[in-house]
Amino acid sequence: MFRKFLPVILVIIATFSILSQAPAQTKKVDAEGHEWWQHAVFYEIYPRSFADSNNDGIGDLNGIASKLDYLKDLGVDAIWITPCFPSPQVDFGYDVSDYENIDPMYGTLANFDTLQQEASKRGIHIILDFVMNHTSDQHKWFLDSKSSRTAPKRDWYIWRDGKGPGHPPNNWISTFGGSAWTLDPMTNQYYYHFFYAQQPDLNWRNPAVKDAMFDVTRWWYDRGVAGFRLDAVDTLFEDSKLKDNPVLPGTNKLGDPNMDNVYNTKLPEVHDVLRGLRKVADQHNAVLIGETWTKDVSELKRYYGGHNNELQMPMDLMFARVDKLSPPEFRRQIAAVDSAGGWPVFVISNHDIARSYDRYGDGVHNDAIAKVMAALYLTLRGTPIMYYGEEIGMTNNDPTRKEDVKDPIGRTGWPEEKGRDGERTPMQWNGEKNAGFSESQPWLPVSPSYTTHNVASELEDPSSILQTYRQILALRHKNAALLDGEYFALNVKDPNVLSYLRRYKDQAVLVVLNMSGQTQDVTFDLTPQGFQAKSAHTLLNTSGTKSPELSLSHMSLEPFSAYIGSVSK
Ligand code: NOJ
Repeated sequence: MFRKFLPVILVIIATFSILSQAPAQTKKVDAEGHEWWQHAVFYEIYPRSFADSNNDGIGDLNGIASKLDYLKDLGVDAIWITPCFPSPQVDFGYDVSDYENIDPMYGTLANFDTLQQEASKRGIHIILDFVMNHTSDQHKWFLDSKSSRTAPKRDWYIWRDGKGPGHPPNNWISTFGGSAWTLDPMTNQYYYHFFYAQQPDLNWRNPAVKDAMFDVTRWWYDRGVAGFRLDAVDTLFEDSKLKDNPVLPGTNKLGDPNMDNVYNTKLPEVHDVLRGLRKVADQHNAVLIGETWTKDVSELKRYYGGHNNELQMPMDLMFARVDKLSPPEFRRQIAAVDSAGGWPVFVISNHDIARSYDRYGDGVHNDAIAKVMAALYLTLRGTPIMYYGEEIGMTNNDPTRKEDVKDPIGRTGWPEEKGRDGERTPMQWNGEKNAGFSESQPWLPVSPSYTTHNVASELEDPSSILQTYRQILALRHKNAALLDGEYFALNVKDPNVLSYLRRYKDQAVLVVLNMSGQTQDVTFDLTPQGFQAKSAHTLLNTSGTKSPELSLSHMSLEPFSAYIGSVSK
């Protein structure tokens, strides 16, 4: 009898199991096969510092919502908000105590939903920051874990006996200073933390941790987020035998011995997790951006995954490490990432890196140089991620006294390491009180540059950095060569001028960047790329010359200037 019905039963079970799986959303691609994030411009917002709607001196979600029209007009398609979840704020949000809520200082979940709806009305996607390596020591998981050696969540974190009294399990050093192990006197074991002691590392070898963390992403996808920036991905796993790291000569800025972190960073298991997260992301048409610190492009390539099945957007942070206006260095870095087989992701600064305005500026021509840098990373093949304030030329405003430092690493490492406060100061909206950021004393001092560099005044000035960003982004959104064109390096021996062609079918865009303080004369022969044109039609020129056409056989570029022109066959 049972045998008779077996095929029917099997069909029912199979149908049920197919229907009960989360329905995979169809990947939306354009005619060229590109997904939305490949043509989008991303913009990083540090929520504490962007816009303060309730005037408590700290930015918030309603503040961000009030600036969506500004972002839309600027040409932004997606905002990445650094952690806005409940947190004791030891590492300003990178110590999360509840992954499925909003910190009251930033607002409520209802405010988040409103922000999400308002952004969506304007075609702006929201990307959240997923702090996956560690939680706050105040997260309920850690509070349970530390409560006893037999607690249900003991194994959600990494606990070990010391080597002996006062001796941690091994020689690993926290990247924020001191041993990476802290002794919990209650249970007399050490827990591991790659960052601050208040940021205990999760044990990703425990399947329950993985499930709980994957569910966090589903929870936010269901609320409408378009993806995540994955924090500190390379630190997820540690050698299970806890082998000592090789010690290198010298000490770092925090006074600790230099180490080669071979046993606690970049373990191969990271990639299994990334593939899993990607499957979930694909079911929601979402994008994963990686905080991927790599030493070379072959390391970066691994984060895309062997079958492009890990991160769609691992950041090329090596590009941001090119710390001088050097055409040969940029050329090398662009060529390497362009041929890596994945979609490049360009960044020139963020909340952990000194602002690009100062890093590339020479102290005299910083505005001109900021425009050259905009013309560079916004016209390359790939997706750019801007950092708030970059578009108005915000400066680093480092603390001058130790007692003013907010970022704990700045206090540990003072004066050699001043911390990251300098690149996190309030957004400069206008030339009024507190730069229009807040009615109250902001949590970090506004940079004095707000009187000359702010949104309101730069909107009035046709030659401002802000207007240059707006023009380039407008061009980028509609120009097929800038969106989809191949990249060809030109005049590759020129030490002063970085030039390239973006070619798409029978049209091309020529980008010429004079990174030197002298006038440069350049010549282009575009026949190898299939273009016989004798001149380029000007799309943007940051120098005084306003000619609509420039000859390719003799182009003269003012010091620190950018030229973008279209070329036809
Ligand atoms: C990288 C984040 O960008 C940084 O700000 C943070 O301190 C560490 N990860 C720890 O989460």
